[in-house]
Amino acid sequence: MRLIIDTDAGVDDAQAIMLALAHPGVRVEAITTVTGNVHVDKVVHNVFTVLDLMRARVPVYRGADQPLVPGFWEPEERVHGADGLGGYRGERQTRGKTEPEAAAVALVRLVNQAPGAYTIVALGPLTNLALACRLDPSFPDKVGALVFMGGTISALGNTRNLTAEFNAFCDPEAVLVTLDAFPAATMLSWETTLKHSFSWQQYDTLAGLGTPAADFFHAITTSTVQFLRQFRQVPGYLLPDPLAMAITLEPGLIVESQHLYVTVELQGMLTRGQTVVDYMGISQRAPNVHVVTALNTAGVYDLFYRMLS
Ligand code: RIB
Ligand code: CA
Repeated sequence: MRLIIDTDAGVDDAQAIMLALAHPGVRVEAITTVTGNVHVDKVVHNVFTVLDLMRARVPVYRGADQPLVPGFWEPEERVHGADGLGGYRGERQTRGKTEPEAAAVALVRLVNQAPGAYTIVALGPLTNLALACRLDPSFPDKVGALVFMGGTISALGNTRNLTAEFNAFCDPEAVLVTLDAFPAATMLSWETTLKHSFSWQQYDTLAGLGTPAADFFHAITTSTVQFLRQFRQVPGYLLPDPLAMAITLEPGLIVESQHLYVTVELQGMLTRGQTVVDYMGISQRAPNVHVVTALNTAGVYDLFYRMLS
């Protein structure tokens, strides 16, 4: 699999990127970055930190430094820290440098050079994907597959707009453009994330494996875990981006998904950023999203265990 990762790394993004880099059947050919959890310049630094740890060399492209519509974005420092990697202080500062092309331009060039060849997994706001759709209207047709972590199915969100998930909330217009342009994107929602967590026991096992990767995993997740464990509604160690990555790397991990029409609210005072799913076909709109509702969490744990070992 020839993979492009779009990311707002991000503590969970970092784990997802590690899963891809460690997977034997996948070649990560580009990483595009976007403002989301933290500003894109911090995202770039965090991506190079992960590449250094994994001894991987992948072209990194700097992308949008704010959503399409200004005025709503704010970083999520409670979960990811001000730096975006849970305050991780490695022994060496990364010296990685981004490629000269803007992320959206690189996305369009890459898929035009190899139509149908690339799988894109989007782990942050969809700003770069939306820009690529506007730069080249044939972009969606030339992408082999698009998987994204984002959105809500039944209005259980995780932002101050209670029905909106963070990636969609950051840039709802980008969600509208992207879902309107792609006929069959695969969506890993917040509700699906809540239903497929690791137990705290499993988290402790992974964090205690004693390898450099496991030590890094433990270091970057400590503050996130402290934040998450205060909410009784959080059932265990949550894996938003790693789940999206796992079903990208191994689609066989998907247990149930439905091809439905999905769009997004832009105007609601309380609901801007809420993705809405037409589960009965009432809208008569053509289905455009494979909504994943069940996956094999044990298989995801195996991927994590192998990667961190
Ligand atoms: O809502 C969770 C998503 O928002 C994850 O991708 C996390 O990294 C943040 O970007
Ligand atoms: Ca993310």
